[in-house]
Amino acid sequence: MKSLVLYSSKSGNTKKLAEALYNHLSGEKELFALADAPDPTGYTFIALGFWLKGGQPDPDSQVYLARMEEGQDLYLFATHGAAADSPHAQNAMNKAKALAAKAHIVATFSCPGQVAEKVLEKAAKKDPQPPWLADAPAAAGHPDEKDLENVVRMLVELDLP
Ligand SMILES: Cc1cc2nc3c(=O)[nH]c(=O)nc-3n(C[C@H](O)[C@H](O)[C@H](O)COP(=O)(O)O)c2cc1C
Repeated sequence: MKSLVLYSSKSGNTKKLAEALYNHLSGEKELFALADAPDPTGYTFIALGFWLKGGQPDPDSQVYLARMEEGQDLYLFATHGAAADSPHAQNAMNKAKALAAKAHIVATFSCPGQVAEKVLEKAAKKDPQPPWLADAPAAAGHPDEKDLENVVRMLVELDLP
């Protein structure tokens, strides 16, 4: 069983989740930023983390997700300015699932991720303001220790590697 943990992360939030997952996994494992990611072929378990942009998985993640193959177990995780249980975040996760339709999705997890001040300022000037902006103040400080525990707990509960 060869595991691959991948992340796309502009400001470091999603990378934190990826590192927590990677540290938890046992056996043969690799951790890469998506920009350096190997081909998915040959990995039986892949965990891929993305951040939300425009209500969707970030563009690099979308490209890689479409390359997932049959017979691969895939754990999708994400961070976003929106609240974890928001339709906005759920829609983005559904989009990720649809893109990776060939893979076997074993689990999903998402949590808020702190939004940089400049990004908030820019978003506030938009008309209409993006739907996630109202939730963004509550994302400050995330992912926190609890989020890191939870992203790992999904694996433990599913008895994955
Ligand atoms: C250009 C840009 C667009 C964003 N668009 C969204 C969005 O559509 N929905 C959302 O919930 N968060 C949005 N965010 C917030 C990020 O998804 C969030 O802060 C995430 O945790 C960033 O992850 P990272 O630190 O791994 O890059 C946006 C951030 C940036 C910089």
